[in-house]
Amino acid sequence: MRSSTPSIPLLISLLQAASLVASTAVPESVDVAVVGAGLAGLTAARDLIRGGKSVIVLEARDRVGGKVYNKPLANGAVTEVGAEFVGPTQDKVLGMISDLGLEIFDTYAEGQTIMYRNNTRVPFTPDPQLGGAPPVDQSSVLQIGAARQQLDAWAAELNVTAPWSHPNASKWDAKTFDDYLTEYADDADARFVLTTAVKALLSVEPKEVSLLYVLAYIAAAGNETTTGSLERLVAAKGGAQESRVVGGTGLIPTRLAEKVVGSQRVVLNAPVTKISKCSKGYKVVSRAGTVVAKKVVVAMAPPLLKQITFEPALPTNRHRLNEDTKMPPLGKGIAIYKTPFWRKDNLSAAVQSDSGSSRVVWDSSPDDASFGALLGFLLGDEMRAIDKLSPAEAQAKIIPDYVKYFGPQAQNVTEFVLQRWDLEEWSRGGPVAIAPPNVLTKYGKALRQSFGGIHFAGTETSEYWTGYMDGAIRSGERVAKEIQSSL
Ligand SMILES: Cc1cc2nc3c(=O)[nH]c(=O)nc-3n(C[C@H](O)[C@H](O)[C@H](O)COP(=O)(O)OP(=O)(O)OC[C@H]3O[C@@H](n4cnc5c(N)ncnc54)[C@H](O)[C@@H]3O)c2cc1C
Ligand SMILES: *[C@@H]1O[C@H](CO)[C@@H](O)[C@H](O)[C@H]1NC(C)=O
Ligand SMILES: *[C@@H]1O[C@H](CO)[C@@H](O)[C@H](O)[C@H]1NC(C)=O
Ligand SMILES: *[C@@H]1O[C@H](CO)[C@@H](O)[C@H](O)[C@H]1NC(C)=O
Ligand SMILES: *[C@@H]1O[C@H](CO)[C@@H](O)[C@H](O)[C@H]1NC(C)=O
Ligand SMILES: *[C@@H]1O[C@H](CO)[C@@H](O)[C@H](O)[C@H]1NC(C)=O
Ligand SMILES: *[C@@H]1O[C@H](CO)[C@@H](O)[C@H](O)[C@H]1NC(C)=O
Repeated sequence: MRSSTPSIPLLISLLQAASLVASTAVPESVDVAVVGAGLAGLTAARDLIRGGKSVIVLEARDRVGGKVYNKPLANGAVTEVGAEFVGPTQDKVLGMISDLGLEIFDTYAEGQTIMYRNNTRVPFTPDPQLGGAPPVDQSSVLQIGAARQQLDAWAAELNVTAPWSHPNASKWDAKTFDDYLTEYADDADARFVLTTAVKALLSVEPKEVSLLYVLAYIAAAGNETTTGSLERLVAAKGGAQESRVVGGTGLIPTRLAEKVVGSQRVVLNAPVTKISKCSKGYKVVSRAGTVVAKKVVVAMAPPLLKQITFEPALPTNRHRLNEDTKMPPLGKGIAIYKTPFWRKDNLSAAVQSDSGSSRVVWDSSPDDASFGALLGFLLGDEMRAIDKLSPAEAQAKIIPDYVKYFGPQAQNVTEFVLQRWDLEEWSRGGPVAIAPPNVLTKYGKALRQSFGGIHFAGTETSEYWTGYMDGAIRSGERVAKEIQSSL
């Protein structure tokens, strides 16, 4: 039977959708206005509420989570188009996952890795003792090993609170990571492997990022009792890609917002356009309304602050930091299959390639392997090229890469999800705002410096796991403490 009247379930879901959007109004005044409902902002709100403060969270998008997002699939499941992995020493995100009643599972990393180099496909066994030494020429293997040791040793000397205070900071900050490769790891294959690593981590070309920034990023890949290392950044087992969240990381911010912060304290579709000082604190102007707050938490990447007008203007150091740090072009091309067919070929789905649109791939299938998902990262210059294409053209360009790596079965895609974070108004890229040369030493100090009653959170401001969900949570906890002690 067909009818033009919408079904009752449909009506209910429409009503629910409408009520979610319209339910929270912007109050006249609060103790603290939090701008941004990513993990940083939501964590700050959680702790301030626990400290007895009145809080409103203003979020630009029609959803919470920022760069953590479960995108629905046609098969009824979800895929993680933003943050996906967690690992040891990421104590805060692991704690939050468990507090929210969520579970983790091992990232699929059984079997061989594919090296696609000089038009040749070579499956190899990643040897954990050698940090996964790839099948490249011997002089490069030596250069890669030496570079890893040297980068770790330099990083270990940095003070994670102030990497710019190291005696050699200006020297390192004047160089790009490309300069480092030219000096210490210039053989073709060493350059390829280390370039792939830094692109996989930061989605930048080596010439776009400061060496000091890379060292600080390595230093931050640990916790108060465990020194950071490049190995922990790039590894699955024992590293940042060790585990995933059952049901997807997107459940972390949605549960945090609904069960802990409270949906009534989160206003969606409320991009903040202006923050101006007034007699009672700050007038925070959003497209959903204006609130007067004693204190403001701005919880987003520094470059996004350029989309907000501050009155009075931010101090010069902070302004320059917002101007000069950059959001790298980053995306994912996720191909969904009936099964994770590569597993029966003894492949983990891990790829390192020197050509194509997607050169770094992981297995992103759900924990029960009820379907297969290949996650192809779109990084740096490859992302820039894909940005010029329509989604259909992008898919037509990316799938042949997967066929090259995994064989003709990779053509049998049931769904393709293209996520381009750099094209999103409220992200402008990812995973984190990076520093080109001579930015950290000049303006790094401004990262965590509050300005009047305005406090800055966001993963960029974290001492540990900057760039990660863990760093975002740590930053939210820090600003909440700063405000508790001053309000
Ligand atoms: C493709 C990709 C893969 C990643 N992989 C991992 C991973 O495997 N593991 C991991 O730990 N991390 C990963 N990350 C990084 C992780 O997603 C981020 O570090 C983290 O989510 C940052 O949280 P945040 O709260 O600091 O910022 P965001 O998540 O960016 O939150 C900022 C919020 O502010 C909102 N906003 C912006 N402007 C305004 C405005 N004017 N008014 C109101 N609201 C505004 C935004 O909409 C957003 O909700 C990945 C990121 C990407 C993009
Ligand atoms: C740091 O990480 C290690 C290894 O996971 C863990 O044993 C330790 O408890 C963590 N330290 C802190 C301070 O949380
Ligand atoms: C499968 O991969 C593992 C890990 O790389 C390797 O040790 C093993 O020899 C491989 N098995 C076969 C049959 O190739
Ligand atoms: C790839 O080609 C370059 C340049 O000819 C060469 O230096 C390198 O050793 C080759 N690498 C592999 C793994 O074949
Ligand atoms: C690290 O830097 C911070 C900020 O400048 C400083 O307070 C702290 O004492 C430094 N720590 C060490 C071990 O030098
Ligand atoms: C710092 O620079 C000096 C002078 O160039 C050099 O001798 C020293 O080894 C450097 N320290 C590190 C950790 O690289
Ligand atoms: C693709 O799927 C079709 C239909 O299920 C099947 O007939 C075909 O063999 C598959 N192709 C490959 C290469 O697996």
